[in-house]
Amino acid sequence: MPVSPVSTAAGYPSPAVTVASALPKRTVDSSVLVVPVVSSGDDDGRATVVANPYLDAEAVGEIEVALEALGAKGGSEQLTRVLVPSLPVNSVLAVGLGKDRDEWPAETIRRAAGVAARSLSGVQTVITTLSDVNLEATIEGLILGSYRFTEFRSEKTAPKDEGLRRITALTPDTKSATKDAAARAEAVATAVATARDFVNTPPSHLYPDEFSKRAKALGEAAGLDVEILDDKALLKGGYGGIIGVGKGSSRPPRLVRLAHRGGKGRKSKTVALVGKGITFDTGGISIKPAANMHHMTSDMGGAAAVIATVVLAARRQLPIDVIATVPMAENMPSATAQRPGDVLTQYGGVTVEVLNTDAEGRLILADAIVRACEDRPDYLIETSTLTGAQTVALGSRTPGVMGSEEFRDRVAEISQAVGENAWAMPLPDELKDDLKSTVADLANVSGSRYAGMLVAGTFLREFVADGVEWAHIDIAGPAYNSGGPWGYNPKGGTGVPTRTMFAVLEDIAAAS
Ligand code: BES
Ligand code: ZN
Ligand code: ZN
Repeated sequence: MPVSPVSTAAGYPSPAVTVASALPKRTVDSSVLVVPVVSSGDDDGRATVVANPYLDAEAVGEIEVALEALGAKGGSEQLTRVLVPSLPVNSVLAVGLGKDRDEWPAETIRRAAGVAARSLSGVQTVITTLSDVNLEATIEGLILGSYRFTEFRSEKTAPKDEGLRRITALTPDTKSATKDAAARAEAVATAVATARDFVNTPPSHLYPDEFSKRAKALGEAAGLDVEILDDKALLKGGYGGIIGVGKGSSRPPRLVRLAHRGGKGRKSKTVALVGKGITFDTGGISIKPAANMHHMTSDMGGAAAVIATVVLAARRQLPIDVIATVPMAENMPSATAQRPGDVLTQYGGVTVEVLNTDAEGRLILADAIVRACEDRPDYLIETSTLTGAQTVALGSRTPGVMGSEEFRDRVAEISQAVGENAWAMPLPDELKDDLKSTVADLANVSGSRYAGMLVAGTFLREFVADGVEWAHIDIAGPAYNSGGPWGYNPKGGTGVPTRTMFAVLEDIAAAS
């Protein structure tokens, strides 16, 4: 029963990216030149423009004099806007990188670009020399930082400007490899924006049926094979976890499968992706407290990232098979909801005693993992806003990654390289005993508050087929930025861990 009108407005359109090896000759309308500066000189520091081949000594001198007059020091992420009439832009935005160094971590550049982009209103074109330091990180940071979600604003509060429309990234060469690097960055950032759009769409408008339709439309546009199982098919197919969680809601659950067949029958690897798609988590009968319950609009952050990632794999034509399995349900309390103490049968036959209906993610994921393993993948990456314990252990910006040790460590390492910073966590054997049930094969929660993130991972491990290298990424905190904007992250959905998963797919494709 759809309850609210569904907006068909497309999300925030990504700015168009071009690479160039020189500044434009004539002044570009509504434009800013973003220039990195470092802090040099005495203790107090003085902002010095990072050397680049696009600005001559005169222009650099003008920028530095203007910066000095404003007291700019070049400190990390410090922004200063100056006028330099001799340059073909309306203004120059200096972004600080802190102390000078020979090499910059990509994440420093991504964040600097993001901070710069967040400060721009009324600017349609960014031209930048930051790309001379790191092209991909600059483009990613600019697109991610300029992201906005305005679908539900009427004229009363909608932004008056169009947002960032064009990025010209200055690079020493504009050969095809450089253009491809720019295209990759643009594609990755656009995928992150897709994931953010899903997370930011409120639960009134994004419920399982609608979510499945949007995933299908996106997937088909990217050339994926898409299959949707509705509630009847789920019941018939024995998906007891998805049915159990979804049955308290008037908006029935779905299971979406999206396949990118890039391996083309060659002896390439197959990767399964699974993402938690709880479109809203009230806790069910084990209801959550009212404070901050609205954050549970982000409880489909794993599903959002998985859908964005498989679409990105197709767009970038990765030469491997990637099959996403995405369970979607709304966890509501009602006369038809499952009760604490109920026993359900997961897809594949394992029985689970539901001691707490708020530990619902693992129930829908167990069905999805078993289904995903039927495709005999080499690797399985599952991601979910699974436990509040993740934020207790690692905070709001550091995902926890668990699973088969080698693959877990590879995922963590790649995640750190892309700036999403997942951290490897163990699954100690003894935790399995905490999930013993007196009536069923397993209980869905342990009786203790200890190691909640790891207990959830231990529960999921029971459903992964033997021989599959797997990783579980808990993004309870990192999927949703409920604090102030930082780096390239506005408030709301972050799109984490889209960039991690895509980079892992690329790594697998490169090794196979
Ligand atoms: N969706 C929540 C986890 C969550 C908490 C995500 C905070 C984002 C921010 C999940 O379904 C849940 O409620 N987990 C319970 C598990 C517990 C009952 C074992 C939790 O973390 O309290
Ligand atoms: Zn819950
Ligand atoms: Zn949940």
